[in-house]
Amino acid sequence: MLIKLKVFRFDPEKEEKPTYQTFEIEADPMDRLLDCLNRIHWEQDPTLSFRMSCGHGVCGSDGMRINGICGLACQKLVKSFKEEVLIEPLPVFKVVKDLVVDLGPFFEKYNSIKPYLTTKTSPPDQERKQSPEEHKIFEEAIRCILCACCTASCPVNQNKETEGYVGPAALVRAFRYLFDSRDEASEERVALLDQKDGAGGCQTLWKCTEVCPKEIPVTKQIGRIKKRIYDAR
Ligand code: SF4
Ligand code: FES
Repeated sequence: MLIKLKVFRFDPEKEEKPTYQTFEIEADPMDRLLDCLNRIHWEQDPTLSFRMSCGHGVCGSDGMRINGICGLACQKLVKSFKEEVLIEPLPVFKVVKDLVVDLGPFFEKYNSIKPYLTTKTSPPDQERKQSPEEHKIFEEAIRCILCACCTASCPVNQNKETEGYVGPAALVRAFRYLFDSRDEASEERVALLDQKDGAGGCQTLWKCTEVCPKEIPVTKQIGRIKKRIYDAR
């Protein structure tokens, strides 16, 4: 089938404002949009910039806005679209070039929630044990691939006045450690998250949950963090 991709183009170092360029491509209905972008890059315009790595929904690098909704280009089949598809970079972040955005601020926020297991007791002779039931509590959060689609879709992060909000992706990772039975820093974690720009920044708008390509119940997990904070007060 013939598909048209209307793609956001912008090189801030050379251009004053963005433009849109339409590419036509003959694609198999089972091709992914990422396949189309790759073919455009290889066969039509090697200057088109976008990120990708695994091609299979694992690395999280090809997050972009597809017909207005953030998602992974490697997870979208051509057959799901009508004749023309609008492809834009993730909102919220500064454009580096075309579909590539600066994720530095995203990872700064991610790092701010201390995304690692913290222990205070001496390590046991072998591993720190955890039962399957304890593991199940945060199992869904482990699926996060840090694609940033949730944070880019969040109206709170999109609002200039509240853009300091740590964002759903960082909170999913915070959930993962706050509810890990092996972690021994829950008091510090609760204090860190109990802030206006922490879990308190979430307005329960559900956009994060709607777009998450790994089907993580993001809003519910943030809700559980809020409950934990409330219980600790
Ligand atoms: Fe991507 Fe989902 Fe992780 Fe957000 S929670 S960064 S949408 S995988
Ligand atoms: Fe890795 Fe899409 S290219 S998630």
